[in-house]
Amino acid sequence: MDSIKDFSLGIIGLGTVGTATIKLLEEQLVNITKKSGKNIIIKAISARDISKPRGININKYDWEESPIKLTEREDIDAIVELIGGSDGLAKELAYSAIENNKYFITANKALIAKHGYDLNFRISNKTVQIYYEAAVAGAIPVINGIKDGLVANNILEIYGILNGTCNYILSDMTNNGKTFEESLAKAQELGFAEADPSFDIEGIDSAQKLVILGLLAFGIEPDLNKVYVEGITSISAEDIKYTNRLGYKIKLLCIAKLVENKLDFRVHPVLCTSESITAGIGGALNAIFIKGDYSKEITFIGEGAGAEPTASSVVSDIINAARSSKSVNNINLLNSNYEYINIMSRKGKYYLRFIVKDVSGVLASITSILNEHSISLDSVIQDGNKGEDTQFIIILTHLCDELDIINAIKKIDNLETIINKSYLIRVENI
Ligand code: NDP
Ligand code: HSE
Repeated sequence: MDSIKDFSLGIIGLGTVGTATIKLLEEQLVNITKKSGKNIIIKAISARDISKPRGININKYDWEESPIKLTEREDIDAIVELIGGSDGLAKELAYSAIENNKYFITANKALIAKHGYDLNFRISNKTVQIYYEAAVAGAIPVINGIKDGLVANNILEIYGILNGTCNYILSDMTNNGKTFEESLAKAQELGFAEADPSFDIEGIDSAQKLVILGLLAFGIEPDLNKVYVEGITSISAEDIKYTNRLGYKIKLLCIAKLVENKLDFRVHPVLCTSESITAGIGGALNAIFIKGDYSKEITFIGEGAGAEPTASSVVSDIINAARSSKSVNNINLLNSNYEYINIMSRKGKYYLRFIVKDVSGVLASITSILNEHSISLDSVIQDGNKGEDTQFIIILTHLCDELDIINAIKKIDNLETIINKSYLIRVENI
């Protein structure tokens, strides 16, 4: 009988994801050997600080001071990059790994969102592959789902809740009455947030994941700068309260559609009805709804962030890399220069929040401007602000044009009775 071949790893980055990846590889070694048909060996590891306590025994492995050297070592088959960042060391590792015919496995969405199209080109004449299941939606096998399970389909649209931190914050504010700051601190403590959490709360992490799904689904070279991105930092406790009262929940939603040869790619908070599946996606869960022409709608739901769920995807990628000599690259990379649809052409319903002086006629002055812009109203809440001489006016509109809403809000914000800049959330039927 042939002896089992080795498949040796160089792991760079030993933080939340890196240490959980090593723990999983150590705990499941026997099963992983059976499933991969190879002896998976952690040959060498690297991070910034060798002396940092990490809850794993790093002395069992070679410590490499210079991560890039791992990509050149003859005794390493795959580089596992768990550092983060779109450029710098992570990018160098990716290009050098491919150049040196090493498999490249990463959880880094920033890197794949920016360089994924080019990296996919680079491997087309190589015997190695790149794997990045953990880069989108933690434990959910959505990358494999699109590349393999749905490969027979033309993907028509993708909707997703792709950021565990934002979903955790919105759920915690809604269900436990916590403030934005308290919920963010807890998400950081639980290991969900990025090293710089502004990437999460400003919607950038979601947009990076969205363009990776766009690359896989539509074969396009994604341009993050053309995606409309709005995070959750303007959502207040009052928005949570009033949207609940109106029968909605707020979610940070990612949308990717190809509409008449134009890309409708956006990330922004939306209201979805409290009974919808989307509204029920709580905590750090992620959800992805994919519509294929033959498959119809497929729903993926699962843990979107955190040490163990992410390690699950990283180790699955390691096993798949060990199994494969070379599977075909299922992404049909296209050269088309698609235009992106401007958010201003959106038509839909809107939640509007105004903070105003508590004086007579204030509601009438707002509704008359909305009326001038052909915006009709579904519901109105006028509520005092405890201990203040101000009021909240909450309006849910009927179907209207985004351009009309933006122009109306600009005018309303100039009213002398308006205290804070007005805020809108789009209502989506999902
Ligand atoms: P951490 O900040 O916990 O860990 C980062 C690791 O990278 C640390 O071990 C750090 O070293 C090491 N590192 C950073 N810069 C360098 C460098 N220049 N040279 C060598 N090592 C370096 O991050 P996470 O584990 O949370 O995230 C890692 C990747 O996984 C990121 O791309 C992230 O987006 C992605 N990801 C994270 C998820 C999560 O839930 N946390 C989920 C899905 C993906 P040291 O420890 O010595 O400082
Ligand atoms: N910071 C990311 C999130 C980690 O909260 O979703 C998972 O990609």
